[in-house]
Amino acid sequence: MSNLVQELEALEGEAIAALEGTTSRAETESWYADYLGRKGRMTALLRGLSGLPAEERPLVGQTANRIKGALEARLQERQGAMDQAAMEQALAAEGIDVSVPGRRPSVGKLHPTTATQREIVEIFAGMGFQVYDSPEVESDEMNFGLLNFAPDHPARDMQDTFFTTQKDVILRTHTSPGQMRCMLEYAPEPIRVVVPGKVFRNEDVTARSEMMFYQVEGLVVGKKITFADLKGTLLNFANQMYGKGRSIRFRKSYFPFTEPSVEVDVDCVLCGAKGCRLCKHTGWLEILGAGMVHPVVLQNGGYDPAVFSGYAFGMGIERQAMMKRSIDDIRYFYSNDARFLERVG
Ligand code: PHE
Repeated sequence: MSNLVQELEALEGEAIAALEGTTSRAETESWYADYLGRKGRMTALLRGLSGLPAEERPLVGQTANRIKGALEARLQERQGAMDQAAMEQALAAEGIDVSVPGRRPSVGKLHPTTATQREIVEIFAGMGFQVYDSPEVESDEMNFGLLNFAPDHPARDMQDTFFTTQKDVILRTHTSPGQMRCMLEYAPEPIRVVVPGKVFRNEDVTARSEMMFYQVEGLVVGKKITFADLKGTLLNFANQMYGKGRSIRFRKSYFPFTEPSVEVDVDCVLCGAKGCRLCKHTGWLEILGAGMVHPVVLQNGGYDPAVFSGYAFGMGIERQAMMKRSIDDIRYFYSNDARFLERVG
């Protein structure tokens, strides 16, 4: 038998022993270079192959291949075991320190407008009101015409409108078209609903006005609904929203869809009607507009004004939030400053 075969087998034994002595991945890599690499000892031995008689070469070649395969398999096994051990050691070292204080997860919260809307709706729900959903994109007819705005009446100027490229299609300027849609859907049934949602006005954005804001409309229609019902309902609302013992007052006003129309104030939440910056030293804060549903509007909605009567009110949601939470600029609501959203609950 060729000497070379014996030498190869001796090399195998030596290599195995050396491999077993390695203690790191780096060491296994230099072991590979030493024994199996291009400049390694196996390659060096096989250089002698060319000096052998042709008939001996196959056996040497086969032996070399077997040994190479076997050594590579052992190398992989050894490296796998090393990686595994390293990982276990790292895990053990990391451990879990149960005495470290937890990291408080940052939890989202409701936007102040949403929170306030829910608060308002809940108060009215407690008085038997249901929520009626009405679209933000409206017809001129629903937003104005059927609500008794004459085509060129200056009252339209109270609410600067966003028009669309489609004739008579507008963004609603108030939630009052919800009144009309609800009546048309339910006449001649009695109605007691609130209609919360977005409204749009083509106005300059200032500390007091945004071009998009939220309102809650209220509508009650039935037989023998009187102004006293409106007063009682709003006083109850003011007491739940702004605290027990609040007073409200009514000032005469004008809306085309109510008659009589009023503006409703609550005594200043900050100074208790003594007069301060918030109430501009009047002692009162305006919270909403309201009135008895105009007979023409009842009729347009499908109710006979000789038999039915009703009241309606509408309030700005951000406005309520501003009074309740002492916010002095409406622009905070939609400028997405997380510090504001964080601070205002
Ligand atoms: N829609 C009126 C506004 O936006 C408010 C209102 C609603 C007044 C219902 C009376 C009755 O100013």
